[in-house]
Amino acid sequence: MSRQFISAFLCLVALIALVRGQSQSGFISIDCGLSENSGYTDKLTGLNYTSDATLIETGVIYNISSVYSRATLAQQFLNVRSFPEGARNCYTLKPARGNTKFLIRASFMYGNYDGQGKPPSFDIILEADVWDSIEFEDESTIVTKEIIHIPQKNFVYVCLVNKGSGTPFISAIELRPLKNSTYTTESGSLSLFRRWDIGSRSSETFRYPDDIYDRIWLPNSLPNSEPINTTSDIISMNDYQGPSTVMQTAVIPTNGSNSLQLSWEPNDPKFLYYAYLYFSEFENVQANNQTREIIIYINGIDWFGPFSPLHFAANTIYGTSPILTAEKIEFSINTTESSTLPPILNAYEIYRAKEFLQLLTNQQDVEAIMNIKSKYSVKRNWQGDPCVPIAYLWQGLNCSYPEYDPPRITSLNLSSSGIAGDIAPYISTLTSIQILDLSNNNLTGPVPDFLSQLPFLTELNLKGNKLKGTIPNGLIEKQKNGLLSLSVEGNPDLCPEASCAADESNGGRDNKFVVPVVASVVSLCVLVTAMAILWSLRRRMQVAKNGSFELKNQRFSYSNVLRITNNFERVLGNGGFGTVYHGYLDGTEVAVKMLSPSSAQGYKQFQAEVELLMRVHHKNLTTLVGYCDEGTNRGLIYEFMANGNLQALLLGEEGDILSWEGRLRIAIEAAKGLEYLHSGCTPPIVHRDVKSTNILLSGKFQAKIADFGLSRTFPVEGSGTHVTTTIAGTPGYLDPEYYISNRLTEKSDVYSFGVVLLEIITSKSVIERTHERIHITQWVSFMLGKGDIESIVDPRLHEDFDINSVWKTVEIAMACVSQTSTKRPTMNQVVMELNESLAIETSRLKATGKEYESKDSIESISVNQHSELSPLAR
Ligand SMILES: *[C@@H]1O[C@H](CO)[C@@H](O)[C@H](O)[C@H]1NC(C)=O
Ligand SMILES: *[C@@H]1O[C@H](CO)[C@@H](O)[C@H](O)[C@H]1NC(C)=O
Ligand SMILES: *[C@@H]1O[C@H](CO)[C@@H](O)[C@H](O)[C@H]1NC(C)=O
Ligand SMILES: *[C@@H]1O[C@H](CO)[C@@H](O)[C@H](O)[C@H]1NC(C)=O
Ligand SMILES: *[C@@H]1O[C@H](CO)[C@@H](O)[C@H](O)[C@H]1NC(C)=O
Ligand SMILES: *[C@@H]1O[C@H](CO)[C@@H](O)[C@H](O)[C@H]1NC(C)=O
Ligand SMILES: *[C@@H]1O[C@H](CO)[C@@H](O)[C@H](O)[C@H]1NC(C)=O
Ligand SMILES: *[C@@H]1O[C@H](CO)[C@@H](O)[C@H](O)[C@H]1NC(C)=O
Ligand SMILES: *[C@@H]1O[C@H](CO)[C@@H](O)[C@H](O)[C@H]1NC(C)=O
Ligand SMILES: *[C@@H]1O[C@H](CO)[C@@H](O)[C@H](O)[C@H]1NC(C)=O
Repeated sequence: MSRQFISAFLCLVALIALVRGQSQSGFISIDCGLSENSGYTDKLTGLNYTSDATLIETGVIYNISSVYSRATLAQQFLNVRSFPEGARNCYTLKPARGNTKFLIRASFMYGNYDGQGKPPSFDIILEADVWDSIEFEDESTIVTKEIIHIPQKNFVYVCLVNKGSGTPFISAIELRPLKNSTYTTESGSLSLFRRWDIGSRSSETFRYPDDIYDRIWLPNSLPNSEPINTTSDIISMNDYQGPSTVMQTAVIPTNGSNSLQLSWEPNDPKFLYYAYLYFSEFENVQANNQTREIIIYINGIDWFGPFSPLHFAANTIYGTSPILTAEKIEFSINTTESSTLPPILNAYEIYRAKEFLQLLTNQQDVEAIMNIKSKYSVKRNWQGDPCVPIAYLWQGLNCSYPEYDPPRITSLNLSSSGIAGDIAPYISTLTSIQILDLSNNNLTGPVPDFLSQLPFLTELNLKGNKLKGTIPNGLIEKQKNGLLSLSVEGNPDLCPEASCAADESNGGRDNKFVVPVVASVVSLCVLVTAMAILWSLRRRMQVAKNGSFELKNQRFSYSNVLRITNNFERVLGNGGFGTVYHGYLDGTEVAVKMLSPSSAQGYKQFQAEVELLMRVHHKNLTTLVGYCDEGTNRGLIYEFMANGNLQALLLGEEGDILSWEGRLRIAIEAAKGLEYLHSGCTPPIVHRDVKSTNILLSGKFQAKIADFGLSRTFPVEGSGTHVTTTIAGTPGYLDPEYYISNRLTEKSDVYSFGVVLLEIITSKSVIERTHERIHITQWVSFMLGKGDIESIVDPRLHEDFDINSVWKTVEIAMACVSQTSTKRPTMNQVVMELNESLAIETSRLKATGKEYESKDSIESISVNQHSELSPLAR
């Protein structure tokens, strides 16, 4: 034997060993109704089954009647879990990571477990759609449902639904990972219709370990056929892994006939089927001067072939699109005229395509509500997906159902639920919530500030609890602006006004805090207030005394950062190169952006940002409070911008609509920030990443430009143009000229600002989320071509604006987005022109008496002189 041959042989052996060893990995085998913490190794398959107790919270376990527990019955059927309570009861299965496609099997045998002698009928739900109906012929019928499915998430819900025809129950659930490349469809999952081992004379079924995927093959035959078999091993040639024992038997046509037929009549002519036919040659055709050439027809139409099955090897013939529908589907397995041997068939599988269209609830919301459920030990039938199917919406929740996005939780009502403890921080991640009712419970602790940052919260009921401390300013402000209905009565220890901010964490240095304190003193809180003022004054005197205070304190140690963010307790968002956390620095809210250590690009941008923001200060640029640069721990500490970014505000829902005047004010402020970078700094600075998500809004809706990580400064040159090495920026906002020429000027920012201005006018996405992906500039040009200025403006403004002001603003925006940079105005000109647009609008408001109507909070922008929430005196 040659050495090569030996090593190849050993390699093959190793490979087989590997396949065998791994084969059970990822299997989930659950015996429903087995008592908690118990398990066993199945005698037939050698697979380990475990109890379902940890996967479901409800149900009662039973043994089936001894009448039906015959010796040959698989152990999984000896006991069941039954669900007398609740309309829907759900298992949550968590397969190991790394697999995407699974065979999921649910098995049922009634066995008169409840002594009623009457099998029920009920539905089974997979994820959020009905999978199948479960019906029994009699007490001893075993019903199994199998599906090949790619779960939406990294867990799978299997639910039983009471249809009013008896109590649902279940015997076993099995989940087997499959190779991703197998059983692919054009769309939908595959529900098993038939899986037959053809030509077996015995009544033996085969599954694991014969079948490494644990498919169950039932013996069967075909009409007008006779069985043949072999004892030789048959090797599978593909990922379908037809088991050798199944492939060792086959059929050929009987006397006279020269084709094999298999057929069925779909219950519904719309059903779509997929077929998998397995072939193997038993005869040594070449040696015997024989040929077997097969052609497969479906309803007389050529489907596959001619082909010759492989000797002692299994091939699988299948289609990647469904079989054409018909009232009767008939496969005819024929041979070519030159074939000397008749056709053969060893096994086949037929599946029906099944669509699972309902999207499961947004994952962040699911995690939040699961945490809330466990924190408060909520005693309700909260199982399966919170929002879908709508018929089984969790009690106390309401959801929104966007057309193409996962459902979101919009309201949570835990009123009178006997819950205790503090207000769960998880609520802060229910970012679509509109209504929160926690009334009449035993909640303690403070009213957390995160409630004021839930952007869509319109109703907050905290009545009848034991909450302490003060109500956060943000909530009071929203209430004053008519954005929030707030109820806090019946909390004896709660200070009714925000101003009495007693706890030290709120003793900030900013004027904003002190002024309303003096303005609205409430008896009980006077003392604390006075203390807060004193403390605040003392801090300010310290600052004055020590000139270098500011500089020294801009660099923070990592342990300080941990303290500021309370060990990174609250995530505000995930940015380009790391995560942004919420924190308090000397009582003032701050945002802390931590750089992910792996990002080299990130570190460059970090340095750029620190250097730039350390020397550039303007009221329309975000303020850097400090930074941390300790080994791999690098972070930037900014002032906290309570009202998020401009894009979120523009896309916000009803109630949060920015007025036309408000939009112009924000546009002017952002323009001023850029103007300052371009002409107020020497050398000038190009921001390079101007976009609506980089324009942030303070608690008073003052606009500030953020994220200077891509900014570039240039030595002053005559030409004013600079060649950079790499193109940077955000698609949609990127100056086309810069993109082509690689020549960067301030005018690139002007282009991006023009795009932002169009967003401000239209409240549309920069790139349409449709197939055509139309850019906002193309769309506006098109509408302008039609002379249709009204439909350019955000329709939610209901034409409450001066049309001339709009015309002017659209003109400015279109000038900014000129393809050639020389045609674009400077930011200086943009600011002037926008001021004129604003003047037109304000004179209309004055004339119509709307000026002081305070329709939304935006109007506070103009009045606010103290709004610079700068924690460090400059
Ligand atoms: C099954 O369980 C037995 C006994 O607990 C254990 O020895 C065996 O390794 C398990 N098999 C697998 C494949 O996990
Ligand atoms: C079911 O039968 C097993 C074994 O016979 C027994 O140990 C168990 O207690 C029974 N369970 C119930 C719920 O009757
Ligand atoms: C499996 O297939 C799906 C779609 O067919 C694909 O999205 C996914 O990335 C694949 N997973 C692996 C691990 O190949
Ligand atoms: C194989 O065929 C022989 C007779 O030809 C029969 O006795 C035997 O039962 C068959 N084996 C199987 C597994 O069908
Ligand atoms: C084939 O066998 C069937 C019965 O098994 C019989 O009815 C039929 O006449 C036979 N056909 C021929 C062509 O011998
Ligand atoms: C296949 O064979 C059957 C039976 O011999 C015959 O009736 C049928 O016409 C054949 N199909 C085709 C498409 O040749
Ligand atoms: C196969 O055919 C070839 C030529 O066609 C012939 O020489 C040979 O003997 C045949 N073998 C058998 C086993 O019939
Ligand atoms: C849920 O929201 C919908 C739409 O806003 C509303 O019609 C429905 O009454 C709400 N249901 C509950 C239970 O609050
Ligand atoms: C919350 O539920 C209670 C009763 O369960 C009801 O009285 C109250 O109106 C609900 N709250 C809201 C905001 O719908
Ligand atoms: C609060 O807790 C007390 C004692 O545990 C209990 O008596 C009372 O009913 C609870 N109140 C509410 C509203 O749940």
